[in-house]
Amino acid sequence: MLIGFMGAGKTTLGKGLADKLSYSFRDLDEVIVEREGKSIPELFAVGGETAFRAAERAALESLKDISRPTVLAAGGGTPCFGDNLSLLRAWGDVVYLHVSPTELAARLAPQKANRPLIASLRDEELVDFIETLLTERTPYYMQADIVLENPTLEDLLDSLKKD
Ligand code: S3P
Repeated sequence: MLIGFMGAGKTTLGKGLADKLSYSFRDLDEVIVEREGKSIPELFAVGGETAFRAAERAALESLKDISRPTVLAAGGGTPCFGDNLSLLRAWGDVVYLHVSPTELAARLAPQKANRPLIASLRDEELVDFIETLLTERTPYYMQADIVLENPTLEDLLDSLKKD
């Protein structure tokens, strides 16, 4: 289970990890979109963040019965709502990918459109926004079993071997 802020590399590293381990890969945002038949921006537009978090929770629960070993990339906010984090922790090792706000802002600036929380921000507002939200979310993220600082795929694999 990979958690971390938007832009931390959950999807990219998750796919790489699944490939190396011969596990299947699921991206929770994709599961939400498949189940709801709407894009993430549409879901936010229709019911706001509350409706999105409900859809996210339902998507997470729908994965409960997955039998194949799976690498799951959560959404950036997933572990910070309800008892989603307990659910993730019950399923396996939770890894927090920590990346600095400046690096996150640089990565996210060209890919804001599909992320409603930052879509309307100007590039120069991104770092402040990220710092504030990251500070709020850090107590949740830090409950991960493993915390890695801007890891490469090799770092991620090594950390799981040691665990
Ligand atoms: C969100 C992160 C997004 C997506 C939604 C909300 C968040 O996922 O779930 O836009 O609250 O941080 P990614 O972290 O995969 O971008």
